[in-house]
Amino acid sequence: MRRAVYPGSFDPITNGHLDILHQATAIFDEVVVAVLHNPGKNPMFTADERVALVKQVTKAYERVSVASFSGLLVDYYKTQQFHAVVRGIRNSSDLHVEMQMAHMNQSLSSDVHTVFLPASPNFSFVSSSLVKDVAMHGGEISPYVPSVVRDAVLRRLSTR
Ligand code: PNS
Repeated sequence: MRRAVYPGSFDPITNGHLDILHQATAIFDEVVVAVLHNPGKNPMFTADERVALVKQVTKAYERVSVASFSGLLVDYYKTQQFHAVVRGIRNSSDLHVEMQMAHMNQSLSSDVHTVFLPASPNFSFVSSSLVKDVAMHGGEISPYVPSVVRDAVLRRLSTR
């Protein structure tokens, strides 16, 4: 059974992430969405909140589970015995950054394999940070995130 980890901040999860996850499930038997616990980054949602949102929007996905991790991805990868890291590539800037991360992970542990999946053109401009920025300035984010995520973002902004 081939198990992949799809790591990220997911602050919050977007339709772009779901597109990559959907592609990953066509390749791997099981995909674990692993939410990085990154307190230093001042995220909009806590790790627990991000995990809860990912769980809600992936509950219809078979063979997908959700977890959180902290520390090095390669250490988490080894303890969970994954076969690959999945990362989405939207454009050449992503490729540049992701190659660097993949090479660093490879250098830290030669057993870690990274699989890049190209974002569908519809989502090539969607990112969690742009979604938050659009919402913060009163724009409509429903084309870019599931409705439960839109509601959570608007609720969070209204309490700030
Ligand atoms: O969604 P993001 O923020 O682009 O995801 C980045 C992530 C979580 C994949 C990356 O920052 C990561 O793996 N962090 C864990 C710490 C680590 O292993 N750092 C070295 C990786 S090069």
